[in-house]
Amino acid sequence: MIKKKKLLILNGSHSEIPLIKSSKSLDFYVITTGNNPELIGHQYSDEYCFADYSDPETVLEVARNLNVDAVCSCSNDFGIMTASYISEKLGLPGHDAYETTKILHQKDLFKKFSMANDIPTPYAEGFDDIDKALAAINKRRFPLIIKPIDLSGGKGVSVVRSAKECPGTIQTAFSLSHSRRIVIEDFIKGSQHSFSTFIVNGRVVFYFSDNEYSYLNPFFVSTSAAPAVNVSEVADDLIQNIEKISKMLSLKDGIFHIQYLYSGKKAYILEITRRCSGDLYPYPVDYSTGLDWAGWIVRAEAGMDCSGFPAVSQKGFCGRHCIMSPKNGIIKNVIIDKQIEGNIYDKLIWLRKSYRINNYLTDKAGVVLLKYDSMDEMLDKTARIHQLIYMNVE
Ligand SMILES: Nc1ncnc2c1ncn2[C@@H]1O[C@H](COP(=O)(O)OP(=O)(O)OP(=O)(O)O)[C@@H](O)[C@H]1O
Ligand SMILES: [Mg+2]
Repeated sequence: MIKKKKLLILNGSHSEIPLIKSSKSLDFYVITTGNNPELIGHQYSDEYCFADYSDPETVLEVARNLNVDAVCSCSNDFGIMTASYISEKLGLPGHDAYETTKILHQKDLFKKFSMANDIPTPYAEGFDDIDKALAAINKRRFPLIIKPIDLSGGKGVSVVRSAKECPGTIQTAFSLSHSRRIVIEDFIKGSQHSFSTFIVNGRVVFYFSDNEYSYLNPFFVSTSAAPAVNVSEVADDLIQNIEKISKMLSLKDGIFHIQYLYSGKKAYILEITRRCSGDLYPYPVDYSTGLDWAGWIVRAEAGMDCSGFPAVSQKGFCGRHCIMSPKNGIIKNVIIDKQIEGNIYDKLIWLRKSYRINNYLTDKAGVVLLKYDSMDEMLDKTARIHQLIYMNVE
């Protein structure tokens, strides 16, 4: 019997389920890691091994001991940093050099790189010293957005509208950042979107776009609807920038995902990630293209040949919605209105009646996958989503 190749996936939350399932379809023996064995995704892997995926040295030891053939990031920036670090140390394929991964995933390095190379992004300055950050505020125009350089999910992010709000928010961002670094960035008014692409030999061979929305936490995307309303205006420019970055940094084949803000005139690149996005992001991509999107992400991260990426384009109207609570408390029930029942083609719910919501700004009870007949229906129902799908908590 031929032994299966071992793939280490760096977490096992609901967000990694598409990666784990697709890896198994690609005939890998899948080992998940992460410091929470209770997460739902671990049920889908062949083996679980405890380690904190944000600690590259520990995960390197795990990868060595398990003698893995490849590593795949989880849906978190610490995951892609660790995946790239391990791959470099062990000579595994499928990831950019560690220094390159830092440039793309640490906000201060990405801003510096972008501004030096005319990549359209909101102006930002990076700081590793709190006094220098406070002093620099006087030269900037409000509103500004302050962020730790290495976190996700909007942790430690604040919008400031005057100098007196700065000391507290800057302090918070510094104290939460693992590397004690922050950026102070111009706040752009506009709509938010993502543009997920696949690169092969430095060329964009596929893209998928969507509109992104948040609920009570303004820094936390919880609903999406695809395609992006402005995709025809921004696609060429974004592709040109991706291919430019790819050439400059000699990027490996695989996912190249952008979050952008659209001001009405221009797309500003907010962030880039070279890992799978969370909350079942691959499923709307699959729905509108027929691809196994998570499967292609895994192939690339495992160093497999990606030259056969199929010629497909995004079709139809679809989305996903994370069910979140309006307050902390015990879940009484989850309500799905009749008006939207027919739009739901799949769902994964892991917190039900009598579970406790401890942090309503970040806790999710599940993800609902939606399809629509038209752009109008999609935009109308997405605008009313919190009246159509919600939970009662007491
Ligand atoms: N320059 C900006 N102007 C306006 N809004 C912004 C700006 N930067 C970020 N935001 C908003 O704040 C949110 C969080 O910012 P950002 O993506 O940089 O942080 P993050 O912690 O990495 O979050 P994520 O996990 O979504 O990547 C964004 O989704 C966006 O809504
Ligand atoms: Mg981010």
